[in-house]
Amino acid sequence: SRLPALSGKTVLITAGPTREAIDPVRFLSNHSSGKMGFALAEAAAKAGARVQLVTGPVNLATPAGVERIDVQSAQQMHTAVMQRASAADIFIGCAAVADYRVAEVAEQKMKKTSSNDELTLTLVKNPDIIADVAALTYQRPFTVGFAAETENLANYAKDKLQRKKLDLICANDVSSKEQGFHSEHNAITAYWQGGELALERQPKISIAHAIIELIANKLTQKRQ
Ligand code: C5P
Repeated sequence: SRLPALSGKTVLITAGPTREAIDPVRFLSNHSSGKMGFALAEAAAKAGARVQLVTGPVNLATPAGVERIDVQSAQQMHTAVMQRASAADIFIGCAAVADYRVAEVAEQKMKKTSSNDELTLTLVKNPDIIADVAALTYQRPFTVGFAAETENLANYAKDKLQRKKLDLICANDVSSKEQGFHSEHNAITAYWQGGELALERQPKISIAHAIIELIANKLTQKRQ
């Protein structure tokens, strides 16, 4: 009988949102549920891989056989990923990483004052985790990104594939409530250099199995 598609492979996955502290009781974040990243971790584990899942705060159970690393901020996620990326065969960036963080986190809870009707927060750019993984020159994993867009899906996704030097990008249309974000369903088109594959609306776990199969096929082709 054949070995599972990813036996002997190490897969590193990011999932969920990040939280960027404003002060000890407040943060900036987004609506990512982590479901797609957790589904990918489950599918990769079932395909025989060793799976490390670096996740922001989510309300999800860890899939069987998956090593989970909990983080809060983009900077923590970046550190956790860069420590492990070179030992991975495959990196899948599924997290909705906050693009910006607060420049100076207040040490104490910020107070509203009667004199200030406006408050300005200065934000600074977070590291682009997947771009840093894809830029590794020594022991670079096969790198897969996600693109959530509300318009111009194909163009933005193909642009991101080039710009971040990814091997594969999975684009999903988040303009519809029927898929993406907190939904159990997703519809994705995967793009790579010279090809694409459309995966119609289906449960996230079956989308995940299809993506893992596609990645396994691409890895095999690379070796030939
Ligand atoms: O540019 P955009 O944020 O749309 O790209 C999305 C892809 O990049 C996803 O794979 C996401 O996980 C990854 N990303 C990242 N670090 C960031 C921003 C995005 O790894 N700071």
